[in-house]
Amino acid sequence: MSADDWKRQAAEHALQYVESGMKLGLGTGSTAAKFVDLLAEKVKAGLDVVCVPTSEATRAQAAGLGIRLSTLDETPFLDLTVDGADEIDAELRLIKGGGGALLREKIVAVASQRVIIIADHTKRVETLGTFPLPVEVVQFGLAATRDMIESLAADVGCEGTINLRKGSDGKPFVTDNGNYILDCAFEMIEDADGLEDALKLIPGVVENGLFIGIADLGIIAGPMGVEVLSNEDPDFSVETIA
Ligand code: 5RP
Repeated sequence: MSADDWKRQAAEHALQYVESGMKLGLGTGSTAAKFVDLLAEKVKAGLDVVCVPTSEATRAQAAGLGIRLSTLDETPFLDLTVDGADEIDAELRLIKGGGGALLREKIVAVASQRVIIIADHTKRVETLGTFPLPVEVVQFGLAATRDMIESLAADVGCEGTINLRKGSDGKPFVTDNGNYILDCAFEMIEDADGLEDALKLIPGVVENGLFIGIADLGIIAGPMGVEVLSNEDPDFSVETIA
């Protein structure tokens, strides 16, 4: 099976948590897109849900598939969000933002009663940080913001190159919110809480791609089957479904 098949398998598994009448948050990226495809089939078959997308790309996909859409202003509390991730550790801490949608993804996730992360097994890591941490920053004062990230991150043991994300046209990538993304290649983020706290102190930082204490379930598909990581039980659990 390919990574694509595993992404689809994780997305399929997540569908069982969706019930008619729910208000859903729809994530961004190739794994979340598979969930949107599968959800659309259920909607065609009669499932009644209203969805808030986390990006313009997901909005366009869902609208094209006939999924009923809303905004977070019209629908500020959601029952469930299903999204992907770039890295997932054993405590369901995440790096997100590879697709550049981290700000809306975090706003939508935090507005949701339950957050399910779907991924193929390559996203599971022991320690976050191999995937460069995306940090969304305002365009104004970019160099000063970049320097401050470098300095405050070093204080919590994170050092590495910080690159302005570029699009395929070579120009700076601009998020749906009109901001830039700095990709911070720290390699190992030993103190994710400390780094998050540090990044929050920087005025030019809009949001960062560390999602800590946000995901409730992680559905990870790979050669081992489908693994469900849960933060919902008092005793943190991992269940593998062959
Ligand atoms: C977008 C994200 C995505 O969820 C993340 O990049 C994973 O994407 P993919 O499923 O394509 O690997 O955070 O901002």
